[in-house]
Amino acid sequence: MTETNKIQHNEQARREAVLAIAKQMSGRNEPPFACVRTYGCQQNVADSERIKGQLSEMGYQFTDDTEEADLILFNTCAVREHAELKVYGNVGALKHLKAEKPDMLIILCGCMMQQETVQQQIKRKYKHVDIVFGPSMFSELPIMMKSALEKREKIFTRDEIPVIAEDIPVLRDDAHKAWVSVMTGCNNFCTYCIVPYVRGRERSRSSKEIIKEIRGLVQEGYRDITLLGQNVNSYGKDLEGELDFADLLRAINDIEGEFWIRFTTSHPKDCSLKLLDTMAECDKVCNQLQLPFQSGSNRILKEMNRNYTAESYYSLIEYARKVMPDVVITSDVIVGFPGETEEDFQCTLDLVEKVGYDNLYTFLYSKRTGTKAATAENQVDEKIKKERFNRLLALQHSNCLAKNKEMEGKDYTVYVESLSKNNPKMLSGKTMGGKTVDFKGDPSMIGSFCEITVTKAKSWSLDGKIKE
Ligand code: SAH
Ligand code: SF4
Ligand code: F3S
Repeated sequence: MTETNKIQHNEQARREAVLAIAKQMSGRNEPPFACVRTYGCQQNVADSERIKGQLSEMGYQFTDDTEEADLILFNTCAVREHAELKVYGNVGALKHLKAEKPDMLIILCGCMMQQETVQQQIKRKYKHVDIVFGPSMFSELPIMMKSALEKREKIFTRDEIPVIAEDIPVLRDDAHKAWVSVMTGCNNFCTYCIVPYVRGRERSRSSKEIIKEIRGLVQEGYRDITLLGQNVNSYGKDLEGELDFADLLRAINDIEGEFWIRFTTSHPKDCSLKLLDTMAECDKVCNQLQLPFQSGSNRILKEMNRNYTAESYYSLIEYARKVMPDVVITSDVIVGFPGETEEDFQCTLDLVEKVGYDNLYTFLYSKRTGTKAATAENQVDEKIKKERFNRLLALQHSNCLAKNKEMEGKDYTVYVESLSKNNPKMLSGKTMGGKTVDFKGDPSMIGSFCEITVTKAKSWSLDGKIKE
């Protein structure tokens, strides 16, 4: 077992490794199969599209079936314990495959794998794994695979590449919607969160590269483009002379063509009025704001190191609604942070009630080793956490329905995404605000914009019909 020498991003070495593997693989009767599974957030989904792009360049074809695969790669998440346990279970289940096919490659990457304790555990208990690396290293996959294949050695590395590699081939999951990562990493160190430890410090891509990528996507026919970053609205702060996030949105908005731009996730402390004004002024920027508040209690927000108060957060919401009356607002919230009292939790319910979110991503606090909150002694009892969680869900459930009811009878432009998951005889479209509408229409409409009227509101989606 070896630790790799410090790997630096080197495009030429990457290309050479791709060619060497492609040559090695071309001697086979048919292209090898790769099975790539992605856990966690959209950033991981976007990274996996670049992982698949590189595998495709090496000559791999893809399967969802691990039994059929010659290469299995799990791109993992560390944000909650549950996500990690799922990965351990799924990796354990691959043991018999490796025993039957010793030449296959089992690769684990992504946020969970950046942690030293996880790598130690994999070395100790999951000896069938070949390559392990963290989230900044996916561009170096061919180099690591070449080494593992040629030298028959295992590779475990926690190296981090301080730049976001450009020009990595990408195999997108969807022909109409695209993810574009604009920055990665986080400098905020919220006391519950593992992300800054596994994703490293904030790194932004140059706006020129981002605009070049989006121009290409629009030319290829992509109409719904989501900009990604752990703190997307602190884009550019790490690069001298670079645009700020609001100006980046404006520059993207100026790209010719009919398309929509969304972005996620924003931190309230970096959500400037300029950004909200820019959203309101730019016609291609969607009226959708995902603004996590985490807790409604100022005492807990301080403990979380969030750098805003419930009042300053709410004034952002008021401003957003003033400049974009139809803005769709969603958020993340954590229940059961250490020391959360019934009174603190009531402040969370109050804020949820007052804002009236369109949707809420609710999380039970999960202890992450290495974070400040994990060592707190006043952890909340599991039963109390769950009971509060259920009360929050019930409140949000009625809020969601009330918000959707406001849309009944009104007309919206939707981007037609696919056949409906609820009923394959229907089409499924997204409004600019990100709401899903199912309606009857011809499948040839997929990939285009269409005017619909909302006929019925449900809790998590809407029914509609093509506007007469
Ligand atoms: N950067 C984004 C969120 C990234 S993680 C932001 O700051 O808003 C996505 C969500 O996971 C967070 O918003 C938070 O609500 C949740 N989360 C993160 N760590 C968690 C933990 N230890 N337990 C429970 N939820 C957590
Ligand atoms: Fe985690 Fe906070 Fe960074 Fe979001 S801002 S990724 S919650 S540390
Ligand atoms: Fe998970 Fe990493 Fe995203 S920890 S939530 S995959 S940034």
